[in-house]
Amino acid sequence: MKRPATGLSTRAIHGTRTPPNVGDPVASPVYQSATFLNPIGSAKNLLYTRYGNNPNQIALGEKLAALEGAEDAVFLASGMGATSLSLMSVLSAGDHLISSNWIYGGTRKLLVEEFQRLGIAVSFADPTRPDGWKRHIKRTTRAVFVETPTNPQIRLIDLDPIAELCNSKGLHLLVDSSIASPINFRPLEHGADMVIHSVTKYLNGHADVIAGAVAASRKVISRVRELLKMWGQAIDPHAAWLIERALKTLAVRVPRHNSNAQEFAEWACEHPKISNVVYPGLDSHPDHGLAARILDGYGGLVGVTVKGGTRAANKLLRKLRLATHAPSFGGTETLVSVPRFTSHAGQTKKQLRDAGIPEGYLRISIGIEEVQDIIFDFARALDSV
Ligand SMILES: Cc1ncc(COP(=O)(O)O)c(C=O)c1O
Repeated sequence: MKRPATGLSTRAIHGTRTPPNVGDPVASPVYQSATFLNPIGSAKNLLYTRYGNNPNQIALGEKLAALEGAEDAVFLASGMGATSLSLMSVLSAGDHLISSNWIYGGTRKLLVEEFQRLGIAVSFADPTRPDGWKRHIKRTTRAVFVETPTNPQIRLIDLDPIAELCNSKGLHLLVDSSIASPINFRPLEHGADMVIHSVTKYLNGHADVIAGAVAASRKVISRVRELLKMWGQAIDPHAAWLIERALKTLAVRVPRHNSNAQEFAEWACEHPKISNVVYPGLDSHPDHGLAARILDGYGGLVGVTVKGGTRAANKLLRKLRLATHAPSFGGTETLVSVPRFTSHAGQTKKQLRDAGIPEGYLRISIGIEEVQDIIFDFARALDSV
């Protein structure tokens, strides 16, 4: 009998592991070792944890590659590390990058301050314009960087036409897919060359590890590995082990985030003290049609604008008991953040307006608690506003 392709849940649990031998541990051990016994007279198979080839690091890469449908993947010390090194693997001084205008504030800072300092020019494209990407292409353009779904307005970008353009012009297409996770969306299936994750978010999902990852072709990942060694971006073995464990439940956690967020968003739409709700699973979302076509789930992030601006939003935050006022997203527990003071801190009023972040806007990372408890927490807190 021909073996069917394994499902995402099976891949998240087993990766590419072959059946163990009698006496082997069922759960992988932690190889908390900086270095390994070296072959004599050869530079081959040199294992050293900073090189990213410790068994925990390797097992993790194989699992993510299987989930994203990539040839290879590598884990790094943070999401920012993954973004920096994946871009640096295809760009050099004198090159030009086109980035979406809708990106995480930390990434924008990296591109505007560090990349420009290193001689890499960056243009920001407006994803709402049909010619938004093409009009920025120059002789020196090498790559396009996109985040989808976006942070914090949870917009969706259609990758297929961008991939077609990149293909015709020989440009690399890099996609930060941290918000979707491979359970909801797999950018390589839509023509992307590299997928970037802040593993800190859904992939690890327990708010206890900072990490990043890149999935791509073998050739590209081998270049990222070279950079990883030189820029010192390897993930610690214990963090790798925690992530490998967390990945086993990814395909169970993400659908629960999706359904909780949908129910919460529908409830929030009816609340008289909330003026606007942003969630791709709502008919009112500007990208609902696209989301329905390309996503397997609408995700766990919900944006709400509280009537009364910053003062009202702060009052609400002080009254929450279950949800925690903290940056980041994708963990089992519900978190609320105010993007103008976290991911987009320090941006000008115009930049905040362009990013669609009004006063009183809260980004809520809906956890996997009982949704009725999350709703009750917000309903009670809103009573005091
Ligand atoms: C979309 C996105 N990409 C990348 C990052 C950076 O990830 P990390 O904090 O793991 O470096 C973040 C952090 O919030 C993010 O929201």
